[in-house]
Amino acid sequence: MSDYILETKGLTKHYGGVHALNDADFFLEPGEHIAIVGDNGAGKSTFVRNITGVEIPTAGDIIFDGQPVQFKAPMDARSAGIETVYQNLALADHLNVTANIYLGREDIAVNLGPLSWLKKGSMRAKAAELLENTGVKIPDIDGTMAGMSGGQRQCVAITRATGWGAKLIILDEPTAALGIQETTRVEGIVRGLKEKGTPVIIISHNLRQVFNLVDRIWVFRQGRIVGNRLVKDTEPNEIVAMITGVDNQGVHENASYI
Ligand SMILES: Nc1ncnc2c1ncn2[C@@H]1O[C@H](COP(=O)(O)OP(=O)(O)OP(=O)(O)O)[C@@H](O)[C@H]1O
Ligand SMILES: [Mg+2]
Repeated sequence: MSDYILETKGLTKHYGGVHALNDADFFLEPGEHIAIVGDNGAGKSTFVRNITGVEIPTAGDIIFDGQPVQFKAPMDARSAGIETVYQNLALADHLNVTANIYLGREDIAVNLGPLSWLKKGSMRAKAAELLENTGVKIPDIDGTMAGMSGGQRQCVAITRATGWGAKLIILDEPTAALGIQETTRVEGIVRGLKEKGTPVIIISHNLRQVFNLVDRIWVFRQGRIVGNRLVKDTEPNEIVAMITGVDNQGVHENASYI
């Protein structure tokens, strides 16, 4: 029986000969906020995709909320209570903001019959409320995503992920495309989730952000987890050394972090 909200054991993903993720042992405590850091191609997004049913792992176990899980599709993970903002955002360009916030909740959104105008009104109001709660300003909630900037799209995706009371929220580089103000807003949303006790996994290349925002940092390098550190017990230099595999003297490390 696991006391963790999420645990992986030996999680592995190979794309043919590309060993993107190898033998990843990971845990997340209830209410904990953690960051995953690592260079481009280190396997961070692969890890997320294989937890959330976008891809099926080559090997390994995933335990979520005390249960072994094998999600076959992203919707399975959402139904179980995991909301994810993917690095390459899955928003529907031809739909408006409200429809995107309801995306994947089609049980509510379609086949509404003669009452659909009423439902549409309440969905729009709910979407507006969620955007309001997350402090996101979208100029035209009835406009389609196609006409929106990268940052506005990111804000809609974050609202969609954080607005529904999930058990776990995963954000893959949520502020990479955002301006200073929007980044501050998103960081505020993440802090609000901490107060509510909702666990968060955030992938970021921004170490300042990571040190300000989370409890624990997990470092990935070349498809492996090299270790984790509590923020209160580490400093950026140590994390950089773990990311690069090069210690402060510039000497290449052997497996001492593993
Ligand atoms: N569908 C795929 N087919 C083949 N190789 C893939 C596929 N997806 C990812 N990879 C490879 O797996 C490795 C890990 O990629 P991943 O996207 O997980 O990195 P990342 O840590 O998220 O990097 P970034 O910081 O750039 O987002 C890379 O070498 C990448 O080229
Ligand atoms: Mg990535």
